Amino acid sequence: MAGLLITFEGPDGAGKTTVLSAIVKQLTQDYGSRLVVTREPGGNQISEAIRHIILDPKNTEMDVRTEALLYAAARRQHINETIAPALAANQVVLCDRFVDSSVAYQGAGREIGEDAVYEMNQFATDGLTPDLTLYFDVPSEVGLARTRTREKAVDRLDAEALSFHQRVRASYLRLAQANPERIRTIDATQPLATVIAEADQLVRRAITQA
Ligand SMILES: Nc1ncnc2c1ncn2[C@@H]1O[C@H](COP(=O)(O)OP(=O)(O)OP(=O)(O)O)[C@@H](O)[C@H]1O
Ligand SMILES: [Mg+2]
Repeated sequence: MAGLLITFEGPDGAGKTTVLSAIVKQLTQDYGSRLVVTREPGGNQISEAIRHIILDPKNTEMDVRTEALLYAAARRQHINETIAPALAANQVVLCDRFVDSSVAYQGAGREIGEDAVYEMNQFATDGLTPDLTLYFDVPSEVGLARTRTREKAVDRLDAEALSFHQRVRASYLRLAQANPERIRTIDATQPLATVIAEADQLVRRAITQA
């Protein structure tokens, strides 16, 4: 497939969404028509319905493997409806969260096993792997403190214990270490302007080298 898939990853409150929207403003001037900005679950009807089931605070009885399968199902549909067509049209897809989130949150956070979740997602993605992943790294306490200042209802995953979030971050760090070519780590405790500048530079470099 032509095009470029760039994913934004990191723990809750790392700044993924904030940085993505900031760099899109800057990148649009140079690459406007080539950019496709999306986030899981991707805005399609099927994936949004699945996401609603996952995040509903009433679903306290949800099995951890059910949760992992639902995320993968929503991802599959998002790929089919949005990501794959954009890549086929040689566009640059910037996606807020992707497979690494499942490995970190379900594999490590929920303790299903990182390898099992990765393999299950290989089926869902049919092997589609990002060309570049920006990993925004923050200690769990910092990320969680930031999400608490955000005005938004707390969902089922936000309400998890600190130890859950620490397993998630440790998993992300392992992923980054195991995939140094694909995953570039950005210290997201830096001032927001610095984080935005680093992300902007990495994305531009990927586009011009592609
Ligand atoms: N480098 C930074 N320094 C200080 N505050 C930041 C920084 N980056 C982001 N923030 C603030 O932290 C909060 C969380 O940021 P954001 O929603 O972008 O995180 P996220 O990674 O998308 O989280 P989630 O995974 O929960 O969606 C926002 O209020 C944002 O303004
Ligand atoms: Mg976000």
